[in-house]
Amino acid sequence: MSTLQKLYEGKAKILYQTNEPDVLLAHFKDDATAFNAQKKGRIQNKGEMNCTIAAHLFRQLAARGIPTHFVDQPSPNEMRVRAVKILPLEVVVRNIAAGSLCQETGIPLGTVLPQPLVEFYYKNDGLGDPLLTRDRLLLLELATPEQLVQLQQMALQINTLLQEFFNQCGITLVDFKLEFGLDADQTLVLADEISPDTCRLWNQAETDPQQRVMDKDRFRHDLGSVESAYEQVMQRVLAHQL
Ligand code: TMP
Repeated sequence: MSTLQKLYEGKAKILYQTNEPDVLLAHFKDDATAFNAQKKGRIQNKGEMNCTIAAHLFRQLAARGIPTHFVDQPSPNEMRVRAVKILPLEVVVRNIAAGSLCQETGIPLGTVLPQPLVEFYYKNDGLGDPLLTRDRLLLLELATPEQLVQLQQMALQINTLLQEFFNQCGITLVDFKLEFGLDADQTLVLADEISPDTCRLWNQAETDPQQRVMDKDRFRHDLGSVESAYEQVMQRVLAHQL
């Protein structure tokens, strides 16, 4: 793999060119960051676990008609993906109040939202990934009004499918972040990854607010047992189909 041209290195993944012009290789790293990289660490085998979880979830979503960038998983921590132009947006869907929603609105942790909340953040580390208004998103031309409607619809559809899937796994999908890209035909496709790095996942068998956490919040808030939580998510995800 060392002969492949590195195109981009992010906090959790490295993207390489491949021999096929419209296919890239994503290498999933064990590196973990939080709070805009103010906190740094490593989660043993995270690359393999997140790549495997994301590959399985992309397959499930594709089978239910969601276009994704996923091609295949040639090795445990490598995913081949279609080359798409990533929109600089983090599309967050929330079912239950947690994280920044609680901090910024005062809604108590764990409040079930009357309907899923879709929020758009500007994917810009220099600015700290700020929450966008619709008008700011359009002002910055981060998406067209038509794409915005489609992103909202796709995010809600993906939420319905993922909620159903994780429920089967005995896991509550609290919230998650998606990224989308545009392919050569300007079609929106789901990209990046879906993993315990990008979702809040609560174990339905636990009621304790710390014990139930199966995602990157264990790393963010030093709750311990990070690897075993990711491992547990992977085992359950692999044992289920949509
Ligand atoms: P938040 O509550 O911190 O805004 O996070 C909402 C969801 O988005 C949560 O599932 C974690 C995920 N997320 C990312 O994947 N990347 C990020 O950089 C941030 C801030 C959140």
